[in-house]
Order: sequence, then structure tokens, then C-alpha cells
Amino acid sequence: MMLRIPNCTTIKIILILLVVNIFWLVRVYPPSGIDSNGGTIQSVKDILPATQKQTPRHQLVGFQLPTTQLESFTHTNTNTVLTFENINLSYGRWDNQHIYKIKDFALVGEQYADSSKSSLVCLATQSSIERLFWLPQVADNWRGPISVAIFSAGHEEYTILRYFVTYMRLCFPNIRANTTFHILVPRDYEKLPKVLTESFNVKTKFYCQHPERTLKILLKLRSINTLEWRQKNTYPQNHLRNVGRKGCQTKYVFLTDIDIVPSINSVVQLNNFFKNVICDGSCAYVIPTFEIDVRATFPRTKSALAILIKKGLARPFHEKVFIYNQYATNFSKWLSKIENETSVTISHTVTNFEFLYEPFYLTVDNAPAHDERFNGYGFTRNSQVYEMYVAGFKFYVLSPVFTCHWGLQRKQARPAWREQQNNANRKKFDAFKSEIFARYKNNPHLKIK
Ligand SMILES: *[C@@H]1O[C@H](CO)[C@@H](O)[C@H](O)[C@H]1NC(C)=O
Ligand SMILES: *[C@@H]1O[C@H](CO)[C@@H](O)[C@H](O)[C@H]1NC(C)=O
Ligand SMILES: *[C@@H]1O[C@H](CO)[C@@H](O)[C@H](O)[C@H]1NC(C)=O
Ligand SMILES: *[C@@H]1O[C@H](CO)[C@@H](O)[C@H](O)[C@H]1NC(C)=O
Repeated sequence: MMLRIPNCTTIKIILILLVVNIFWLVRVYPPSGIDSNGGTIQSVKDILPATQKQTPRHQLVGFQLPTTQLESFTHTNTNTVLTFENINLSYGRWDNQHIYKIKDFALVGEQYADSSKSSLVCLATQSSIERLFWLPQVADNWRGPISVAIFSAGHEEYTILRYFVTYMRLCFPNIRANTTFHILVPRDYEKLPKVLTESFNVKTKFYCQHPERTLKILLKLRSINTLEWRQKNTYPQNHLRNVGRKGCQTKYVFLTDIDIVPSINSVVQLNNFFKNVICDGSCAYVIPTFEIDVRATFPRTKSALAILIKKGLARPFHEKVFIYNQYATNFSKWLSKIENETSVTISHTVTNFEFLYEPFYLTVDNAPAHDERFNGYGFTRNSQVYEMYVAGFKFYVLSPVFTCHWGLQRKQARPAWREQQNNANRKKFDAFKSEIFARYKNNPHLKIK
């Protein structure tokens, strides 16, 4: 068979198609590795999430990370301590299963105690070290107490943590003032490799505008052994959530994942709302979560968010990946209300609760703990929300406050390790379900089959 030489028009058409195709690829291709759940390493090379588009409102400040011992840097020119002092990770409070040791209040924000006294709300969150670069943006929007629980697999990760926390405390005033850190280490912490010398010779200047880049440089400090350990071991999401929650000192706790960014000024708005709340029962206050295109700017108001949604640059969190995740929140109802942009009210009550619903919510922290038998991925948050429901909690959706997750997520095949963890947890779920039904069987609210 002979190949026909395409004529000029055909070539033009092919070229146009090619350009359209490239444009389409660039447009729809999601940022890599974005995932809200936590911190398991995906491969030894470790995929880091795409650059965050929105840089915090700070001046460009460059400074040299230490070339000498971290200790000497910590105290230079200042009488404030910037990093963890005298934390000896060879001992700590055990978790109930004797798998992890916990250092509560490893480093306390300079205004944390005062700030917690004057606020009704505190944000509790959790992270592995490689996702910690989200914290500056979270703290930039959440101007109030923050309690963050961090997993540090070994000495190398702890060293990175110290450098990065120092960096964050130098660059971001609200992290220094209002953020308190707790550390959780595995039982075999001391078996993991040690950094040969604490002096980490970085000649690079670090800029406050680039937390992700800064962390990426520091993460190179981990050896292959540490990375392999991380890959083999599950990330203890629920342990960390409980540690973060209990580290809050205020009446209400807003538990999130590290990459969930609250709307601007929500602390003041929520404090005004909760001043007048009387709840004679078990109440949870849902703050709707949206995912936004990395090219968009963070919406300053609910109406700005509504515009992004109209343009296809934002949508309910997990709408395309796993719709049940937030479905019961009823986003169309929430969006249909155009109200006072500054004062928080209850938009509506969740009426169609379904299993697998996992909103981010505020509640008095007498809510059931996160069950620590669920380790790694799957059934970690939704099992807890399910228990709240069985225990008779009512869910109220607040407006106009919201939270955002960067990156529009699309369905993609789950990596094998994640599927394995999910399956392992699914097996534990039946026992969990029987237990909670036994525990709450006399509850008048209980009406699930
Ligand atoms: C931690 O404490 C143990 C026991 O007191 C001691 O042997 C070890 O050197 C300490 N480690 C650090 C890093 O201070
Ligand atoms: C710390 O939180 C309080 C509210 O609790 C807020 O008024 C203050 O501005 C915050 N500090 C910084 C540096 O953002
Ligand atoms: C959301 O609210 C609308 C308006 O009240 C209602 O018609 C719809 O059934 C609700 N959807 C869900 C999923 O609850
Ligand atoms: C919105 O609510 C605040 C506080 O309740 C109030 O001061 C303000 O006047 C209200 N604005 C509008 C446009 O209703």
C-alpha cells in the first residue's frame, strides 16, 4: 500500500488539532500527588504536590538557613526560641497500642495560651513532614490558635522538622504566635538512620514566599533507608488527629487535614457566631469544602467562590473523585443563599446523612475520638463521623465560611499500596460497626438499619 502525501489543508487541520490537544492536556491535567488525607510516601522519589499558586501576603524575605549547629542559630540575635528545645524523643507518652510515642506541646506558640483564652475556636490538624508546607497558608487565613500534630519517622525527619519549623517561625508571624506543635514518633524511632552531623550546609537563601521549595530542599536530607521505612509503614492519621484535637484549649475544635485552607477571617466570624450558640445536645457545625483550580486566586468571599464555581474553576471537594465524601452537605442549597458576607449563620441542617460522609466540622471536643485501629488510608475520618451520627449528633452547615483544597481532582487509579491499606481497614470496619451499635443501642436517635 502506498502512503498518500497529505495536502496543505490536511496538514493545517492536523496542526490545529495538535495545538487544541496540547492546550487541553495542559488545562485538564491535575497537579501531581494532591490528596487530602495525609502522608504516606508514594514512592521513594516522593511526589510532592504542585506549587501553590497563592503566596502568603508577606514581603519577600530571604535568609540563610544555618551552616552551623541548629542550636546556635536558634538563639542568634534573639531571646526567643525558634525551634524545639530539649525534646528527647527516646521517651514519650505511649499510644494505647504501644506503637507510637507522643510528645504533646513539643513547641508552643508564643501567644498560644492567651490566644486560646480569648477564642472559642481552635484549628486542629495533622501532617507528615513532606506536607507541612501547607501550614503557612493555613495560618495566614486562620488568625487564631492552631494545634498541629506531626509524624516524624526518625532522626532525619526530626532534623528536617526542626529546620522547617525554624524557617516557618521566622517567616510567618501567625505560626510563631499562635501555632503549637506536637510530635508523634514510631516505636522503632531510634533504629532509623541518624543524620551524621546536625550541621546542614545549605548555601541557598530561603525565601518566605516559597515554603514548598524550601521544604523540598530540606527533604533531600532523608536517606533511602528512612524513605523505605516510610513506604513500608502506614501513616497514623487517626492517632495524629486525636493528638491535634486534644492539644486545642478552646471550647470548639475545627479538625482539618493540613491542605485544607480556611476562608479568610473565619476566626473572628466564628467567634461571633459561637458567642450566641446554645446547643442542648450534640451539635457539629459543618464548614463546606471546595476544590479550586491551581490557576485561580483564593476566593476572599463566598460570592468570589461562587464566581469561580460558575467559571468551572472550583467545585465541591471530591465531587468527581468520590461524591459521597461531602454530598450530604448539599452544596446547591448552600450556594443558593446569598446573605451577609460577614456574619456566620446556619444555612441548613444535614438531613440526608449517609455512610461515607466526611465533612470538616467544628464541635465541642466531647465528640467520639478517631479510632486508632484505622491506620493509613480508608475509613479514618468517615468512621468517626459515622459514630457521631449513631451517637445522635446533628450536623448544621455554616455559611458564609468555607474551606478550599488546591487542585481540581479527577478520578485516577489508586496506587496499589493505597488499595491495600483501604482493604485492611475495610476488614476492621465490621468489628467497629458492631461495637458502636452495641455502645449506642439505647440511643433514641438511632434509626439506621
Ligand atoms: C535522651 O535521653 C537519654 C536517657 O536520658 C540519653 O541517653 C540520650 O542521650 C538523650 N538523647 C538526646 C538526644 O538528648
Ligand atoms: C493570634 O491569634 C489571635 C486571635 O486568637 C489574633 O488576634 C492574633 O492576631 C494572632 N496573631 C498573629 C500574629 O496573627
Ligand atoms: C438539597 O437541597 C435542595 C433544596 O432544598 C433539595 O431540593 C435537594 O433535594 C437537596 N439535595 C440533597 C442531596 O440533599
Ligand atoms: C452583616 O452583619 C454584621 C454583623 O452582624 C452587621 O454589622 C452588618 O451591618 C451586616 N451587613 C449587612 C449588609 O447586612
